[in-house]
Amino acid sequence: RQKIILDCDPGHDDAIALLLAARHPALELLAVTTVAGNQSVEKTSLNALKICSLAHIEQVPISKGMNQPLIRRARHAADIHGDSGLDGPALPTPYLSLTSQHAVDVLIDLLLQSDGDIILIPTGPLTNIATAMRRAPAIIPKIKAISLMGGAISVGNVTASAEFNIWADPEAAALVFACGRPITMVPLEVTHQALATEAIMQRLQAMHQAVPDFVIDLMRYFGESYRQVFGFAAPPLHDPCAVAAVIDPDIIVSKDMHVDIETRGEWTEGRTVCDLYGKTGLPPNVQVGYALHVERFWDLLLETLALYA
Ligand code: BDR
Ligand code: CA
Repeated sequence: RQKIILDCDPGHDDAIALLLAARHPALELLAVTTVAGNQSVEKTSLNALKICSLAHIEQVPISKGMNQPLIRRARHAADIHGDSGLDGPALPTPYLSLTSQHAVDVLIDLLLQSDGDIILIPTGPLTNIATAMRRAPAIIPKIKAISLMGGAISVGNVTASAEFNIWADPEAAALVFACGRPITMVPLEVTHQALATEAIMQRLQAMHQAVPDFVIDLMRYFGESYRQVFGFAAPPLHDPCAVAAVIDPDIIVSKDMHVDIETRGEWTEGRTVCDLYGKTGLPPNVQVGYALHVERFWDLLLETLALYA
């Protein structure tokens, strides 16, 4: 099984990424680390505990990470995910609790102790990963690969130019994108193809189980946000795409490119500047996804959710 660490900010789509990461038979989820993003790290950590409690994901340590971007003030996404970061489903008080260790220390320890066989899956701002890299650069060669949800080749979703996860902490993203390890970027071009349509909701409903029902509740709220804010007919499941790309690397169609992170632009801060035509002359540092095998993605996700019965 492929060892992974999920670094997330749940978050409706993060919640589903977590369900996929914890249960897919090809993966071994070593830890869940939380970061500020969709909401404060207090809230995203509580949400991670609630998700794992509901789904009885009991063997995976959950650790709270950074509450602030590297140098900027925190900016959250209550317009999309609500005040709790996971509005919509009614969730009981979790029976699981956080580890006493900070997420950054968890990342450093697990990577240093590893044989270089761990893939990191960040689905929030890259603050924890960047902080771990700065504090302990020796972890960098130990990272097998990074499969991250973030960025966009063309237009953004939080500004006209930028995608939320990168925009929320561009300096952290710049550090991670320059780390020299294999990076797969799963941008909006890919995730906007993973739309939870009514047909998908019906497949979930037909399972008649608590976890698929929870996913339906998540998608109803998320779908309403996406309808109001973006005019989408169905919500995109961004973060599970980054997990799916580890399980089945061919599920996304991608191209190697040089990618820089804009940290100073007047209108473009947080933009992932993707050198599609090799204009920079710089070697590719990122495998950039641009399309998704949609049916395969849903089969993979729904088959895994069915295992929670
Ligand atoms: C990303 O931002 C968050 O709102 C989602 O959880 C996802 O990780 C999409 O831009
Ligand atoms: Ca997220």
